[in-house]
Amino acid sequence: MLKGKTILIGITAGIAAYKICELIRMYKREGANVRVMVTPNALHLVTVLTLESLSQNEVFVDNFEIKEYKPEHISLCDEADIMVIAPATANTISKIANGICDNLLTTTVCAFNKPVIIAPAMNTNMWKNQFVQENVAKLEKSGYHIINPESGFLACGTTGEGRLCALEKIYDKTIDILNKNKILDGKKIVISAGGTIEKIDPVRYISNFSSGKMGTALADAAYAMGADVTLVSTFDINKPYNVVKVESAVDMEKAITPFNNNVDCIIMAAAVADYRVKNYAEQKMKKTSDDEIEIQLVKNPDILKGLASSANTTKIVGFCAESENLLENAKVKIKNKGCDFLIANDISRKDIGFSSDENEVYILDNKLNIEHLDKSSKSEIAYKILEKIFE
Ligand code: C5P
Repeated sequence: MLKGKTILIGITAGIAAYKICELIRMYKREGANVRVMVTPNALHLVTVLTLESLSQNEVFVDNFEIKEYKPEHISLCDEADIMVIAPATANTISKIANGICDNLLTTTVCAFNKPVIIAPAMNTNMWKNQFVQENVAKLEKSGYHIINPESGFLACGTTGEGRLCALEKIYDKTIDILNKNKILDGKKIVISAGGTIEKIDPVRYISNFSSGKMGTALADAAYAMGADVTLVSTFDINKPYNVVKVESAVDMEKAITPFNNNVDCIIMAAAVADYRVKNYAEQKMKKTSDDEIEIQLVKNPDILKGLASSANTTKIVGFCAESENLLENAKVKIKNKGCDFLIANDISRKDIGFSSDENEVYILDNKLNIEHLDKSSKSEIAYKILEKIFE
């Protein structure tokens, strides 16, 4: 999602500085070029060696070493698409808000005319300080993207507002701002993810190994591409788009069916159980003296097939996970399901598919045209699938 983008991270001397190591990894995983600069005080909290190893780039601390015949702060401004200051201390926030340029980081922000995300983190009283609040408001009014700190246990031993927001918030905001190429603007998309849970009794269930990663990657990519996204997921997950939590196949069908013919596309990435328990036991089942017991199963609705048979205006996309004869089975399946596209992947391979962060798939359309997507991250695959569907 971040291929070809350069993110300039500015780390100031908040104790949360160590968390930014993980943020660098999150950006790198999505293909971003990450440049890091730290204030001299932040170097007490994180080391240049760690940051250089993670960003795979030189880390900047001091002012005004001339690089390529331009002062550093200007060449970094030219190169970066976005600047992310996290954690941002009261000191740095107040300096930026007042145009003070007394280190490389503050000088760079002053010269930076592209989007800037600021994620403050500090002691509760500092965060509530009138001047800090005025400076934050001033920055927000001028177009800086402020991600407010959260409440929680702080390094100073107190509990209150001031803790650096979840890294996912900074990450999602970055993706959101950088993906100006919103080719799905105005499109409504519903995506299912995860393995359904078919209860046996109040404490037991039948499910499968689906991690929900592919469906979630599709939802993230669709959102980043500008779509109005609803993710119908068997996992509780906090996202900047609409998430509907479901459990069983029957729940999932109920949640998804009303969208048919009211949205542009429904993608069934969930691993829906083909069968559910016939007689759900209201009370926990007791162990008996029998060595064998039987649990009867009944067929679940085939959600994908049902959607495809009644879709007029909605594109219906299914997934096909096979452990043998992938393409032959996929060709039969797309005809049987009647959907517009089928994404086929080979689950016998350990390096892709279930639980993995990577995938390699074939996209079949209803005329049996086949496109192969080479092995890459699930988010990259998600982008390509969406591009293909809305081509
Ligand atoms: O029939 P099979 O399970 O192989 O088909 C997989 C596709 O069908 C996936 O897109 C899955 O989400 C969908 N499916 C469904 N309802 C079921 C079983 C699978 O929508 N009961």
